[in-house]
Amino acid sequence: MGFRILGTGTALPERVVTNDDLSEFLDTSDEWISQRTGIKTRHVCTTDSLDDLATRAAEEALSYAGVDASELDLIVCSTTSPDHIVPAQATAVGERIGAACPSFDVAAACAGFIFALDVADGWFARGRARRVLVVAAERYTRLMDWHDRSTCVLFGDGASAAVLGDGGEGFISVHLSTKPDLEVLEVPGLSGSSPFNVSEPRPCTLSMHGGEVFKYGVTSIVQEVRKLAADAGITPQDIDHFVFHQANGRILDSAITRLGIDGDRVVRTLADTGNISSACIPLALDKLVRTGELAAGEYVAMVGFGAGLTTGSCLLQWDEKSAGAATLAKTPSDLSD
Ligand code: ACO
Repeated sequence: MGFRILGTGTALPERVVTNDDLSEFLDTSDEWISQRTGIKTRHVCTTDSLDDLATRAAEEALSYAGVDASELDLIVCSTTSPDHIVPAQATAVGERIGAACPSFDVAAACAGFIFALDVADGWFARGRARRVLVVAAERYTRLMDWHDRSTCVLFGDGASAAVLGDGGEGFISVHLSTKPDLEVLEVPGLSGSSPFNVSEPRPCTLSMHGGEVFKYGVTSIVQEVRKLAADAGITPQDIDHFVFHQANGRILDSAITRLGIDGDRVVRTLADTGNISSACIPLALDKLVRTGELAAGEYVAMVGFGAGLTTGSCLLQWDEKSAGAATLAKTPSDLSD
């Protein structure tokens, strides 16, 4: 048994921070950030919690799908910047929306949404679920060293969600990979206050070799798209929509050139949101769904990459009951199998 995506939703904090706002306290400029990354603004949490954002995104996705929280069989949340270490971020969402199903988190950095989809796919394959909520929620602004201009200008906060239902084709192809390397990108865990600890505490902030991540990002997108296309017996040019992790506009440009694909088929959200880690992919997918650009029969390729180093990619084919499919007469009854 496969699945299809029935609904999507997104929530961003209200506070928008521009590049000029950052240059008030950092030695940076709108020109540098725009040219090197393509980012113009990012949304940052002020009074909003990640619970708030994740819940709003989940409620939007459930409403779009016409699914009630009581119908959910599983909630999986992708996050590496949760409000709670325990219980899971997914469990906090479950409490807020009134769900009674199992819930847990996956941590695969910016590729996390694809890893979470793959977990959900397993539940459908084993006949254990009819409705699954997958949420990606990230608050990376709390993991930044705000004196480090090479990292803090890149990230923003936000959450995005997808409701999956049984009965669809599921993945045409999916690939997950991890090339362990803690040097390239790391956020150390909490030091705690154990009286027995004698090791030097490390700040819980993100450090990164940007150039290495840049190369890894381009290579991952190119290799993964070629693999996905080959698995389906098509070419990269036959894929209708590309939903890639939004880390840097130049990573997207370079991958587009190498693949020889139409840049208009690549969803771009990072100018407004910056890098929201694993929430980037569902947010870009939500944009596709809500702008009516998806039609039944079209191929959608998604590729995420990030800390780990980790990559997740998948190819889906939209059908007439999938969220936002152009031929869909959208009422909840249309969506039930
Ligand atoms: N403003 C002004 N100058 C800056 C800034 C800034 N915000 N940041 C760095 N610089 C300076 C550097 O200090 C350096 O100055 P120097 O030449 O005097 O030493 C100069 O700009 C060039 O720095 P580079 O690091 O070579 O700049 P580059 O063009 O490589 O861009 C960047 C850096 C934007 C980080 C790029 O490498 C990148 O986007 N990498 C990918 C990052 C990424 O994807 N991260 C997220 C991964 S997702 C996850 O898993 C969490």
